[in-house]
Amino acid sequence: MPTSSRPQLRVVVLISGSGSNLQALIDGANSGELPIEIAAVISNRPDVFGLTRAKDAGIVTQVLDHKGFASRETFDAALMQTIDHYQPDLVVLAGFMRILTPEFTRHYLGRMLNIHPSLLPKFQGLHTHQRALDAGESHHGVTVHFVTAELDGGPAAIQARVPVLPGDDATQLAKRVQRQEHIIYPLAIKWFAQGHLVMHEGKALLNGELLPASGYQIEANEP
Ligand code: GAR
Repeated sequence: MPTSSRPQLRVVVLISGSGSNLQALIDGANSGELPIEIAAVISNRPDVFGLTRAKDAGIVTQVLDHKGFASRETFDAALMQTIDHYQPDLVVLAGFMRILTPEFTRHYLGRMLNIHPSLLPKFQGLHTHQRALDAGESHHGVTVHFVTAELDGGPAAIQARVPVLPGDDATQLAKRVQRQEHIIYPLAIKWFAQGHLVMHEGKALLNGELLPASGYQIEANEP
C-alpha cells in the first residue's frame, strides 16, 4: 500500500494486451513511489494477460469488446460511460490499440496520456521497431504524450532514446525500448499527479515551462 498520505490521483487504465506498462504502474502504486489509485482497468479484448495482472493486484476490471459495437462512435460512447463511472482524474492508455473518435479525445483533453513506441513524430502507427530498423535510424525510443484528436500527435511529455545496435532485430529493439517505457510512463504520471505536468492551450508544460516539441528528453544509460 502507498505510504504517502497525499491525496491519490484516481486513474483508469485502458489496455489491449499484455499489460507490462500497467504492471509498472501497479508496482509504482504499491511501493508508494507513484501517488495514484488505479480505480479500474478496462480492456477492449477479453482474455488478455493485462486483465490477469489487474485481478492479481486486486483491481476492478472490465471488458468492453469493440467487436460487439456497430461503429467506432457507439463503442467510444460506451467506453466513455464506462470510464466516467470511475470518475478518474487521469485516463492512461497503456497499449490500448484503438483509434479514438474526436468526441472521445475532446472529452478527456488534458487528462489522458498515451505511450507510443517511437521517437514521435517519427513512426506513428504500427510496427514502429521494424520501421526504425528499415529506415536505418541510429536511435529509436518511446514517447509519452497527451492525447489529442490527432493520432499519436498530441504534445509530448517525455521521450526516452535508445541506441539501435548492430545486429538488432525488431524483438531485441522492442525489449530495449520497453525497459524505458516502464521508467518514463510512471515518471510522467507521477509528474501529472504532483501537478508538475499539465497540458495548457495545446502544449505540454513542466513546472510552468513549455516543454520542447519532443518532450523532456531522457537518454537511456544502458545499451
Ligand atoms: C507498448 O510497447 C506500447 O508502447 C505500445 O503497445 C505496447 C503495449 O505493451 N503502444 C502502442 O503501440 C500505441 N500506439 P504492454 O501491454 O506490455 O504495456
